[in-house]
Amino acid sequence: MILSWIFVAILTSVGLGNLLDYIWFETKNSGSIDAYTPNVVDSYTSLSNYQIYPANNRFIKFHVKACENAFVLLSSDINLHSSNFYEICIDGHSKTQIYLRVRRKTSNVPKNHSFDKPGLLNCSEHRTFIVKWEESGRITLTAGTEVVMDWTDTTPIPIQGIGLMTGWGSDGMWIVEHSSLFTGYYCGVTGSFGDMTLFSTSHNISVIRCSSECALSEDCLGFNFQRKKKICQFVAGGQPVVKSVARGWKFYTKCLRENTMCLGCIV
Ligand SMILES: *[C@@H]1O[C@H](CO)[C@@H](O)[C@H](O)[C@H]1NC(C)=O
Ligand SMILES: *[C@@H]1O[C@H](CO)[C@@H](O)[C@H](O)[C@H]1NC(C)=O
Ligand SMILES: *[C@@H]1O[C@H](CO)[C@@H](O)[C@H](O)[C@H]1NC(C)=O
Repeated sequence: MILSWIFVAILTSVGLGNLLDYIWFETKNSGSIDAYTPNVVDSYTSLSNYQIYPANNRFIKFHVKACENAFVLLSSDINLHSSNFYEICIDGHSKTQIYLRVRRKTSNVPKNHSFDKPGLLNCSEHRTFIVKWEESGRITLTAGTEVVMDWTDTTPIPIQGIGLMTGWGSDGMWIVEHSSLFTGYYCGVTGSFGDMTLFSTSHNISVIRCSSECALSEDCLGFNFQRKKKICQFVAGGQPVVKSVARGWKFYTKCLRENTMCLGCIV
């Protein structure tokens, strides 16, 4: 993927330390594929695209809204380019089972294990899950507060990367939790516009004041700025980033962890 953005940092001196801890994104139905499909890993959205690297924490917490067949890939490669992985399928087989599939380089056929836990997902409501993996090879899935899968691999695959996917007719809206500090950097995409829900618009405002005001608000994900008319539109958090081409506008989003993680530039 080629990213056509220029990194622009505006360092503000106020409002530093806002904790932005949810990344929203959507996965489209990937069709009838799973660990048995060659190259299935290409259909997963890697959390490394969002600069989320949970290898050291050994768990991820997410909320997903999907009707069925929500998949989590635990891969030995940070960008999922490996055929050593675990695949967890939530509400597979017509919402009746959890599947845990293990694929190893040494074998063409994955092993699957099923767990009788039906109806964990809901088409119209986000449901919360935690996937944990221990050095010992133990992998657990918690749905809400209940442990719904607990399995131990006797020859553990070291996990470096995480992928998410929906398939078998199902789309998914994901919210992945992470914690990072906003340290005052923004990145701006010239000729682009965050086509998203706004929470307010200011006129006659400089880009510096606009960024300072956004920095003060935890609900502000970034802003659209029109230099000519000095219009600043504050973009609300809690929604996926959707960009449109718009001449004369620039879409700024907050960066986390210094300037390594800037939603508007990496999506
Ligand atoms: C393995 O998965 C297939 C579907 O992908 C299923 O039909 C089969 O019952 C599973 N086997 C076990 C042991 O869970
Ligand atoms: C999904 O959530 C909605 C809204 O809370 C609820 O009315 C519905 O019964 C749920 N469906 C299932 C299958 O749990
Ligand atoms: C913007 O500021 C200029 C001068 O500072 C003023 O003349 C103009 O009326 C202002 N426009 C708006 C929409 O407030």
